[in-house]
Amino acid sequence: MSNRYVIILAAGKGTRMKSKLYKVLHPVAGKAMVDHVLTQVEKMKPAIVETVIGSGAEKVRDLLGDRTKYALQEEQLGTAHAVLQTEDVLADKEGTTLIVNGDTPLFTAETFEKLFNYHEKQQAAVTILTAHADNPFGYGRMVRGVDGSVSKIVEQKDATDEELKIQEINTGVLCFDNKLLFDNLHNVKNDNAQGEYYLPDLIGMFKKQNKKVSAYQMADLSESMGVNDRVALSHAEKLMQTRINEFHMREGVTIIDPNNTYIDADVKIGSDTVIEPNVKIFGKTVIGSNCLIGSGSRLEKAVIEDNVKIISSTIESAIMHEGSDIGPNSHLRPKAEIGKEVHVGNFCEIKNAKIGDRTKVGHLTYVGDATLGTDINVGCGVVFVNYDGVKKWHSNIGDHSFIGSNSNIVAPVEMSDHSFIAAGSTITNDIPKHAMAIARQRQTNKEDFWDRLPLSKSEDWE
Ligand code: UD1
Ligand code: MG
Repeated sequence: MSNRYVIILAAGKGTRMKSKLYKVLHPVAGKAMVDHVLTQVEKMKPAIVETVIGSGAEKVRDLLGDRTKYALQEEQLGTAHAVLQTEDVLADKEGTTLIVNGDTPLFTAETFEKLFNYHEKQQAAVTILTAHADNPFGYGRMVRGVDGSVSKIVEQKDATDEELKIQEINTGVLCFDNKLLFDNLHNVKNDNAQGEYYLPDLIGMFKKQNKKVSAYQMADLSESMGVNDRVALSHAEKLMQTRINEFHMREGVTIIDPNNTYIDADVKIGSDTVIEPNVKIFGKTVIGSNCLIGSGSRLEKAVIEDNVKIISSTIESAIMHEGSDIGPNSHLRPKAEIGKEVHVGNFCEIKNAKIGDRTKVGHLTYVGDATLGTDINVGCGVVFVNYDGVKKWHSNIGDHSFIGSNSNIVAPVEMSDHSFIAAGSTITNDIPKHAMAIARQRQTNKEDFWDRLPLSKSEDWE
């Protein structure tokens, strides 16, 4: 059993975000910041993970579920006070506790692991993960003595002009000897500019007690970025996008223009798939191998199998089976399921409908609430009239049938296998096997119509 514990601090409201959404729930690459942190923490399999919640507690709990324990911090009196809320669960444990903020979404499990290992090797009371920042504004500064040893961490608002020049910062990730942490937490004071109980104050306290304080400087500052406002949020987004795109490229995905390709954190993509510029892929979308995702496409919670081609189209909560294609400018709405080698052409909308293998829906068509079989040809401009103003109705179209252009299928309609609809029909009744339904006014030609027009008498016209 591991004797490593992790506390995630996520109770703050995040005033600087100026948002109704609690800070740690703001998404970076489509995933809440605190979820990014927890995802990395989980990789290390610590014995206990406890998240301190306060502002928006229920929302954070709804999101993270039983992946972590929770401690409630009713009033946000500072990071030391936040850690104190985990006392019931953690105070009597022997081992090492890593504390990380819920607003630092870029940290990786590898970095946490390195810090744990370094701390345990040093047998320190506390080890601070530090980084060098070109612009340290907003972070706690690492104050070191002449011999280079850490003396204390001073927060932005409490720092002297001299201290503000320090570029080594506290990343907010600290490893503690668990017993020493809880033995001293009660003694942290709030006599500072913000009137808060600061967790980093423990460093000064340990120094006074001659306990070992160590620091571990990480090479990559970008990992440690803390998001306190929207400017930082956009920087974190950019860094995360770069990381995600590079991951996929290393896994064999071609991304033509990574600066203009936006892929959420939990998207999966198979090798040899090509992603053109200006594509957005959201949520838990899964894309197979050897697909083409063309410019201007937007995919959300989509399942795309191998060898699928998507040209400038929107796919929302829909499935495209192997070898199918869509676009340009079509829209799959929720619960559309497109069969193998189906062709959906341009300006089509498909919703809550299943399209059987090899069926073709080429142009300007709406399919809503319908089940289409295999090998069907749907002509241009067909409308499945699914809504009577009160209720949605479903239609079924049999295999190998043919729907002529500009037809309306007024649901509910059952069209049997191998049947036909003549172009321009408005279908309101079922169609039996092998029949052709024709439901339109017969054409009549008015002979010599021209002669009846006054215009025809004018000399200007022949
Ligand atoms: C904190 C550190 C600072 C460090 C920086 C790194 C303190 C006092 N300062 O500053 O040294 O450089 O992170 O990003 O620790 N929280 C609670 N309860 C509270 C207060 C905060 O749970 O009462 C949570 C917040 O939700 C947040 C985290 O703790 O996830 C950090 O709080 P924040 O206000 O962002 O601290 P910083 O000013 O960023
Ligand atoms: Mg912060």
